[in-house]
Amino acid sequence: MTLDGTARDTGATDDRDQGDRDLDDRRLADGFDLRRLDRAFLDDPYPTYHALRRHDPVHRLADGSYFLTRYDDVVAIYRDPDLFSSDKTVDFKPNLGDSPLYEHHTTSLVFNDPPYHTRVRRLLAPAFTPRALRALQARVEAQVDALLDRAANQGRMDLIADLASALPVQLIGDMLGVPRDERGPLRGWSLAILGALEPVLSRAQFDAGCRAVAEFKDYLRGLIADRRRHPGRHDDSEILSKLIAAEDGGETLSELELLHNCIFLLNAGHETTTNLIGNGVEALFRFPGEMARLRAAPDLIKSAVEEFLRFESSNQLGNRRLTRDAEVGGVAMAAGTYIHVCIGAANRDPAQFPDPDRLDITRSPNRHLAFGSGIHACAGMSLARMEGQVAIGKLLRRFPDLRPDGAAVRGGRARFRGFLSLPVAL
Ligand code: HEM
Repeated sequence: MTLDGTARDTGATDDRDQGDRDLDDRRLADGFDLRRLDRAFLDDPYPTYHALRRHDPVHRLADGSYFLTRYDDVVAIYRDPDLFSSDKTVDFKPNLGDSPLYEHHTTSLVFNDPPYHTRVRRLLAPAFTPRALRALQARVEAQVDALLDRAANQGRMDLIADLASALPVQLIGDMLGVPRDERGPLRGWSLAILGALEPVLSRAQFDAGCRAVAEFKDYLRGLIADRRRHPGRHDDSEILSKLIAAEDGGETLSELELLHNCIFLLNAGHETTTNLIGNGVEALFRFPGEMARLRAAPDLIKSAVEEFLRFESSNQLGNRRLTRDAEVGGVAMAAGTYIHVCIGAANRDPAQFPDPDRLDITRSPNRHLAFGSGIHACAGMSLARMEGQVAIGKLLRRFPDLRPDGAAVRGGRARFRGFLSLPVAL
């Protein structure tokens, strides 16, 4: 098989080799189980995704759910929210029970259907207008400059700790109105809460997630009380004040809904953006020719960021539940069937992206699904793109000799793909 997952006819010996490889691929596809993932998969899931797409693109898992890897199938699911529900009240019960984690995840807009989803999405909209984005860009640029100044003094840095994770936490801290000296716990809370969405959840992960939700809620309650005591004293661009005003005005958001959707904003915008920056820079290290092209033409940063999003999507998996009997990807499924949509596989589908395992910073068209699609398409996509462009763009301009400096450590998770640590020399 070629890198793009397609067969190539190169003669008799290769035909035999091709046959062996096909058999290996078939075994890989047949044995794939989301609840038993090994290190090799977590390091590099793409050979498995290609095998699945070629041999079993609508793959039935042991628990009766299906795992979909074709681009067209994933798009069709995102585009039909009536047939494919995002409501997770049934799905999260077995892992999360009646816990604070359950309360959180089933109240955030992303895991709900209309009309609740529509109501919350409308309320969040003012935080994501082009005007709001322009106001934030100046802050992002200043924050990146400050982080790079600090790194320059040391001559090396951990790209994740010192840039990629520091930036989104500060930005969402600004959006929520969390004072600078109180932002310490935000990253840990967010990682613990999202960690609870992994296919297999340990007791320790569950406990840490529950603790994080409880602490985060308490903390936000304090912030909200302060906004109520002193209305008008806070920055207009703050989403928290806007949401409180909406709640007070028309009873459109209960306090619990307000709390959980604020928590979700941090979770949604933090690790994903961290991973966009980390994955993007690491991909450039692996493809030095693309690094050289980007350095020679910094204006390519916009299309380069689109390619990073496609090539190593921060969010690899999504889920939907079928609301009535239907055929999905050519397979008959019963109402209630749980479906895993694999964004990471769809974004490497050779039917949509020629030579999909090659990083091409000028790829066009590049209709990747890193932000999903349809009514739940990422509300923060413009913000994430801007953060990625500013952070990676400035990093490359500032350090012409940027290079890896020691072993990178992968996060080791199936749903959120990224690095825990990426040491670089400047
Ligand atoms: C590279 C960074 C990001 C990636 C890859 C990403 C990815 C996604 C994806 C795939 C979804 C759709 C989930 C679904 O349909 O099931 C989503 C939804 C969402 N994202 Fe992002 N996201 C990123 C950054 C952000 C940022 C920075 C924010 C805000 C600060 C944000 C806020 C949201 C919200 C509010 C939703 C829910 C939308 C809805 O349900 O209507 N995201 N994101």
